[in-house]
Amino acid sequence: MTNKTRVAVLVSGFGSNLQAFIDGAQNSSLPIDIVGVISNVEGAFSLDRARNAGIPNQCIPHGQFPDREIFDQALLTQLDKWQPELVVLAGFMRILSSNFVDRFKNRLINIHPSLLPDYTGLNTHQRVIDAGEQWHGSSVHFVIPELDAGPVIVQGKLQVHNDDTAETLQQRIHIIEHQIYPLAIQWFAEDRLNVTKKGDVLLNNLKNTDQLITFNI
Ligand code: GRF
Repeated sequence: MTNKTRVAVLVSGFGSNLQAFIDGAQNSSLPIDIVGVISNVEGAFSLDRARNAGIPNQCIPHGQFPDREIFDQALLTQLDKWQPELVVLAGFMRILSSNFVDRFKNRLINIHPSLLPDYTGLNTHQRVIDAGEQWHGSSVHFVIPELDAGPVIVQGKLQVHNDDTAETLQQRIHIIEHQIYPLAIQWFAEDRLNVTKKGDVLLNNLKNTDQLITFNI
């Protein structure tokens, strides 16, 4: 029997990506144990999802800490109790200090709703529409101290429709995310991800798998 990868998930909100991981772990399509969920927002629905699945969960409200470093230290203290091999940011709306990021070098991943390196930062769906882009998507990447800039693991893309709004784009991007984020976690769990010195992510033993997937949705 292979050991399951210990995964901790950091969230702030609705948690539909977290739910995709929970479902994958429960139906054994993802070889992971979700060892804990932390939310920085009290009452976040993500915490209900964790609770309903019987996953240890903790709310650590950032507002109760005098600065980012001390908040991040509280996160680290909780994570140390769970000993995750991989930390997954899933709609976690806080910038992490380089101290935190360095602790989990190449073991900390995020999903950003754009085709990185384009459209870092917030409000990506509206900005993509305003710029008249033909394509939009989402990217799973390793986290480095610079925001939305780490090595990309996998991207999913879709065509922007003439009548798309930020809301319709967000809905279709979520469909993509619920497939590419579990896929990236699976690759990590199977030890298939290698980060080169140049900062590219290479896949071991996955010759036919594309790291840029086009969705017809
Ligand atoms: C996702 O769209 C992700 O790209 C962004 O935050 C959103 C989180 O959604 N970082 P959910 O909380 O997983 O539903």
